[in-house]
Amino acid sequence: MDLKLSGRVAIVTGGGRGIGQAICLSLARENVSVVCFTQHKETLKETMEKMAGVSGEGDHFGLCLDISDSKAVADAVKQVGTLYKKIDIVINNAGISHHPSLIFKLEETEWDRVIDVNLKGIFNVLKYTTKWVMKSDQGRILNVSSALGQLGAAGTVAYCASKSGIVGLTKSVAKELARRGVCCNAIAPGLVETDINKKMSGSMREVLESQILFKRLGTVDEVASLALFLVSAQSSYITGQIINIDGGLE
Ligand SMILES: NC(=O)c1ccc[n+]([C@@H]2O[C@H](COP(=O)([O-])OP(=O)(O)OC[C@H]3O[C@@H](n4cnc5c(N)ncnc54)[C@H](OP(=O)(O)O)[C@@H]3O)[C@@H](O)[C@H]2O)c1
Repeated sequence: MDLKLSGRVAIVTGGGRGIGQAICLSLARENVSVVCFTQHKETLKETMEKMAGVSGEGDHFGLCLDISDSKAVADAVKQVGTLYKKIDIVINNAGISHHPSLIFKLEETEWDRVIDVNLKGIFNVLKYTTKWVMKSDQGRILNVSSALGQLGAAGTVAYCASKSGIVGLTKSVAKELARRGVCCNAIAPGLVETDINKKMSGSMREVLESQILFKRLGTVDEVASLALFLVSAQSSYITGQIINIDGGLE
């Protein structure tokens, strides 16, 4: 299957760890020049080193920034534009959760931070990158939502609200950019083995696994495979969709 990804330039937010890092590596293997946006120097370094180690001809670049900071995003995208003169693919993967808390106990600061990173962060990135993506002959935007954005979950109101917000944002951007041939979709993972789930207790994990038809968490590589397909030439007739990847989460 020819993904026609060779020579493309892709920005991946939250590429320092977990799902984002797996996506960076899978793009790098397809000869994509990957721009990794992440927050911390250590995780950026790890992803950059790993990408340098895969066989692929991409010319990778990385920046540490907080995607909720619109000026930092504007500056970062400007740098990418100057360096590569194009941006074909944007994968909005960076996201955070919050400490489990019922709505009446949830601190306003926690609500604000989660919405700022998970939702406004995507707005910031798309505000400055869509002009570039529209110029590509294979423009692709992929946002990472969550199955919890559709199901809801007690104790994670802000997280679930932010992930539902991504659904509306994705469908709207798909409508705005369709005439420019850009595909804009979201993926909605269920539970995936990453740091974000490390705070989960053993008993909580057992309960959640029992609600998954495959009785296990997903892997980052399984999610990266779907992401790769959705930014490739092979997904040219898919837009405005939210694609679940959750092992049959009920
Ligand atoms: N894992 C799951 O079960 C699951 C399920 C459904 C949806 N998701 C979604 O999938 C995405 C990736 O999750 P993950 O599990 O891979 O998470 P993760 O392992 O915690 O990694 C999150 C990544 O996002 C980056 N990041 C966080 N805040 C940022 C900010 N303000 N600015 C820039 N980068 C920031 C982190 O940077 P540093 O490395 O520098 O800290 C890190 O690279 C998230 O949107 C998450 O909500 C995950």
